[in-house]
Amino acid sequence: MPERHTPKPVSASRIILSQLMHPEHANLLGNVHGGWIMKLVDEAGALACMRHAQRKVVTVTIDSMDFHQPIRIGDLVILNAEVSYTGRTSMESTVEVHAENPITGEQTHTNTAHLVYVALDDAGRPTPVPPLLAETEDEKQKFIQAQERQQQRLQRR
Ligand SMILES: CC(C)(COP(=O)(O)OP(=O)(O)OC[C@H]1O[C@@H](n2cnc3c(N)ncnc32)[C@H](O)[C@@H]1OP(=O)(O)O)[C@@H](O)C(=O)NCCC(=O)NCCS
Repeated sequence: MPERHTPKPVSASRIILSQLMHPEHANLLGNVHGGWIMKLVDEAGALACMRHAQRKVVTVTIDSMDFHQPIRIGDLVILNAEVSYTGRTSMESTVEVHAENPITGEQTHTNTAHLVYVALDDAGRPTPVPPLLAETEDEKQKFIQAQERQQQRLQRR
């Protein structure tokens, strides 16, 4: 178990999930059902946060999700998830979704999602998480943007 308040770098919990889209993932149009993608996004986001907190986490909120391109049956869905912000017990994950045609290798960016999770202790209560250590300029910028998103979510509550 890590020291609770030792900052952890973004790179320590970054995760990539890949899954081949089968016919059972189809919607009535024959493309991949958006609900499957939302489930995978939630799983990838949660895994990055679990790695960061080394705790169980629950989803507390999911920002609106826009799908820019359809994903086809037979495509490989690739989800890149990283922790973009930490509060005291909450964490934001940013999940980027790409669809790859495994034959041509062509990749399209289908959507990016932001989700907030809360770490739970053994009794199921919110528990503190290590602060996020944003090391690169890109990570620092993403942290500032994520902090603004979190402030807006809390104002809307
Ligand atoms: C998540 C949960 C434990 C939070 O409990 P709570 O009593 O609201 O706890 P708190 O008020 O202390 O909030 C905990 C953290 O969540 C954040 N939070 C709460 N609601 C939020 C919202 N709508 N948006 C963003 N962050 C939110 C708080 O700001 C706080 O963050 P901080 O500790 O970093 O400052 C509780 O709401 C819950 O169990 N929800 C159900 C979760 C679930 O079942 N998810 C779906 C299946 S995984």
